[in-house]
Amino acid sequence: MTNKTHLVDEITGHRRMRRNRKADWTRRLVQESRLTVDDLIWPIFLVPGSGIIDPIAAMPGVNRMSVDKAVEAVKEAADLGIPAIATFPNIEMNLRDQTGSHILEANNLLNQATAAIKKAVPNIGVITDVALDPFTSHGHDGILRGSEIVNDETVDQVVKAAILQADAGSDIIAPSEMMDGRIGAIRRGLDAAGHQSVGIMSYATKFSSGYYGPYREAISTAGLLKGDKNSYYISPANGTEAVRDAAMDVEEGADMLMVKPGLPYLDICWRLKEAFSLPVFAYQVSGEYSQIKAAGMNGWIDEERVMMETLLCFKRAGCDGILTYFAVEAARRLAKA
Ligand code: PBG
Repeated sequence: MTNKTHLVDEITGHRRMRRNRKADWTRRLVQESRLTVDDLIWPIFLVPGSGIIDPIAAMPGVNRMSVDKAVEAVKEAADLGIPAIATFPNIEMNLRDQTGSHILEANNLLNQATAAIKKAVPNIGVITDVALDPFTSHGHDGILRGSEIVNDETVDQVVKAAILQADAGSDIIAPSEMMDGRIGAIRRGLDAAGHQSVGIMSYATKFSSGYYGPYREAISTAGLLKGDKNSYYISPANGTEAVRDAAMDVEEGADMLMVKPGLPYLDICWRLKEAFSLPVFAYQVSGEYSQIKAAGMNGWIDEERVMMETLLCFKRAGCDGILTYFAVEAARRLAKA
């Protein structure tokens, strides 16, 4: 015992935050958020053909896969315990047109993949997007008339596409095109077609973001896009508007909400989780993935550590799960721990 007091004693009194951090066992005991394999959704890219594994330059470690290869990869993901995948097709250029009409082809690449995956790996959830951008010759998510992305006509098409996707075996429809009224319209359409048990994960708050760059390379829309998506995606400046947009989707019947991109929008994740009693998912998008990969490949950051840290931070921010291109790597890492 010493009666010498330090300045810090006067300030902290008996309070010492570091007591709970002093050993591995205390740190484990007080850990608030945890990442498990059950939190992971793996987005994958599809190409026509067979036997194809085609690396995406802007997303090191991510490939476009033909359906047969995708089925093998999804089997592996299911064996690791990943609960669900999300699929994005790279559609042949000669099938793309002004209205994205090929999305209404029952046996298109996306629906073929869903059917094949559900047949081979019935226990993994398949989430499909109904935006038109992989199918349009201009790279927009909706139908372009003159210089306008027309809302209501796009919604009619998206509803038909959603029913075809559900027919093919899709478990959850995830509309990302941000048209007004789409959630209610898709719900009614699915129900009328007998797909009451098919869920809707709304890309409720999708921001107009530069982080989607590598994705546009992955599905070959980067060179096609005329103008920007500011007339239908939310401005990165607007949080309250994002909450209102999500509120409409909740009223219209969304089963799950998504925030996209992820890390720069953790405040939105938190706000949606507080405001609504629905599961909230973050999409750690292509640009977020590529940033971490690039810095890791340069030796500037510890890639695995940053990957696990970002995924855990989504949990702390209130997310129930994360769509991430790291899903398989993270699942392997979690299995080791
Ligand atoms: C568009 C869509 C986008 C992503 C998925 N679906 C964004 C866009 O092209 O504007 C982005 C996903 C990613 O960046 O990983 N419907």
